[in-house]
Amino acid sequence: MEFFDSHAHYNDEKFDQDRESLIQKIYEDEITRIINAGYSIESSKKAIEIAKNYEFMNTTAGISPNDIDNFKKENLIEIENLAKDKKVVAIGEIGLDYHWNTENKDLQKEVFISQIEIANKLNLPIVIHTREAIYDTLDILKNQKKCIKKGIFHCCPLNIDLVREGLKLGYYISFAGPITFKNSKNADEIIKMVPIDRILIETDSPYLSPEPLRGKRNDSRNVKLIAKKIADVKNITLEEVATETYNNAIKIFEL
Ligand code: NI
Repeated sequence: MEFFDSHAHYNDEKFDQDRESLIQKIYEDEITRIINAGYSIESSKKAIEIAKNYEFMNTTAGISPNDIDNFKKENLIEIENLAKDKKVVAIGEIGLDYHWNTENKDLQKEVFISQIEIANKLNLPIVIHTREAIYDTLDILKNQKKCIKKGIFHCCPLNIDLVREGLKLGYYISFAGPITFKNSKNADEIIKMVPIDRILIETDSPYLSPEPLRGKRNDSRNVKLIAKKIADVKNITLEEVATETYNNAIKIFEL
C-alpha cells in the first residue's frame, strides 16, 4: 500500500532536530508522497528548500490569514515568483480565519482573493484554510468565476454546509486528525457525504495528531489513522482508501 499525505509542514521548527531521519522513516512506512505546505513567504521558501532533497515531496506557496500582520503588496510578487518553482504544485495555504483574527477581515479577504488570482494566472489549484469563516470563504470562491483549477479544503471543517457547497463547486475535501476526535460528533455523517473520488487525506503535521496520539507531535505516518477512520465509516478496505486518495491527489496536483 502507498499513502499520500496531502498536507504537512516539514518546514516547522518542531522538526529541526530529526527532520532528515524522520522523513526517511516516513517514506519507508509506505507514505510515498507528501505535500510540504507553506503559510508565509519564509515558510514557503523553506518548504521548497527541503523538498528539493526528496523526489516524493512537493510544496505549496502562499500566505495564510494568520500570517498577514506585516503584509505588503510586494509579498504577492514574491509568492508568484516562488510558485514558479517546479516543486510548487498549489497556492496555499490561503483563506480566512476568524477564530484567531477578526479585526482585519477586509485585509484577509483581499490577500485571499489576490492569491486566488495568482493561482489562476499560473494555472494552479488552491489549498484553502478556513476557520469560523465558512460563509465568507464560500462567497469568495463562488465569485471567483475565473477560479479555473479549483482546489482543496485543507483540514476541512466538519460543517455540513461547507462540505455540501464545496462539493458543488468541484473542490476536494481533505480530512485530517479531527475526524478521529471523540468530540467531532458529525464526523461520520460528513465522511459519508463525500464521494471517495473527492477525498484527500492529510496530517497537517506537526499539529493535529489523530486519536489515540492527540497532543503528541504529529508526522505523516499517522495519515494511516485518518485513512482507517474513512475506511471504517464507508465500510471499504484501507487499501481502497489509500489508492483512491493517492490517485485523487495525483490528479489535483498534476503529479
Ligand atoms: Ni497547515
